[in-house]
Amino acid sequence: MFSIPKTVRPEPSPGFNVASTASTVVAMKHAGKEAEFFKRQVRKFVGREKPLFKDEIMPKIIDPATLERVTKMGHQPVTTAIRERYFRKALSRLIKSSEPITQVIILGSGYDTLPARKEKYTRQKGINFYEVDQAEVLGRKADKYQAQGIYPNAQYVAVDYVKENLIERLKENGVDFDSPTHIIWEGNIMYLEAEDAERVLSLLKENFKHFTISFDYVHMAFLENTTGNTEVEAAFERFQKAGLSWITGVKSLAELAQKFGLIIIDDKTSAELAKEYEVDEDPVATMQYYSVCTLRS
Ligand SMILES: C[S@@+](CC[C@H](N)C(=O)[O-])C[C@H]1O[C@@H](n2cnc3c(N)ncnc32)[C@H](O)[C@@H]1O
Repeated sequence: MFSIPKTVRPEPSPGFNVASTASTVVAMKHAGKEAEFFKRQVRKFVGREKPLFKDEIMPKIIDPATLERVTKMGHQPVTTAIRERYFRKALSRLIKSSEPITQVIILGSGYDTLPARKEKYTRQKGINFYEVDQAEVLGRKADKYQAQGIYPNAQYVAVDYVKENLIERLKENGVDFDSPTHIIWEGNIMYLEAEDAERVLSLLKENFKHFTISFDYVHMAFLENTTGNTEVEAAFERFQKAGLSWITGVKSLAELAQKFGLIIIDDKTSAELAKEYEVDEDPVATMQYYSVCTLRS
């Protein structure tokens, strides 16, 4: 189940607005994916010389001052780029699977470049993309794309999916609830109240006939500061001082999946992925408490 910390509830910075995170995250991914960046940040470099992924759109939409700021964030951009690689690989596996998907819905899409990069998925495989975010974020993204001559290749669904009727807005925008659908819910759950995150999952489960969902999550042990690991405790203190905006985590993915009648396809910590992607043999301990997963209905 999604839970909020029982013992220590981190206090978000005053005036924190989740919409502002979109531009930071895309800059972190862009910086963190490069070998010359992660080689400097990791504790025990494994040998990967290639970037974690390629993206020709990111540099066209990133604000240079934000990019400059994120390069001073230590290893965090690397963790974010690692998670991006995971989401890309999870999608490409689903597309190649024996029951391929026909729709991709990105919940809280921010500056995710997937639909614009993968126009070939629409042309060759008939996959329709939907990006769900707040109107202000989608508006800024559309302006950036237009200025750069980038075709968005997605239906933009402007909605606050917590406060408004997500399902109605998806219907109005042409989502087919009977078609096999992949949902990407990246960099969102930790900012939501636990009951809101659970309500979204219930709505998806009730309305989609077949779906898969990939999301990232923080472990409750981190948010409750009960890891017993001094390195992680020190990181938690630093996060709290900086005004951590993560409020919700996952105690047991198995329980969460069971509660919503979902099957876990995979579930990996960032630490495991850092090794698997040949980036870091000795990832910082906090990476054991941040995971990515894919579930199916
Ligand atoms: C941290 S960013 C992540 C963006 C993108 N998914 C990524 O990982 O690169 C979070 C995004 O989710 C959007 N978001 C969060 N809560 C939302 C809500 N209730 N309704 C619509 N969008 C939301 C924010 O506006 C923001 O663009």
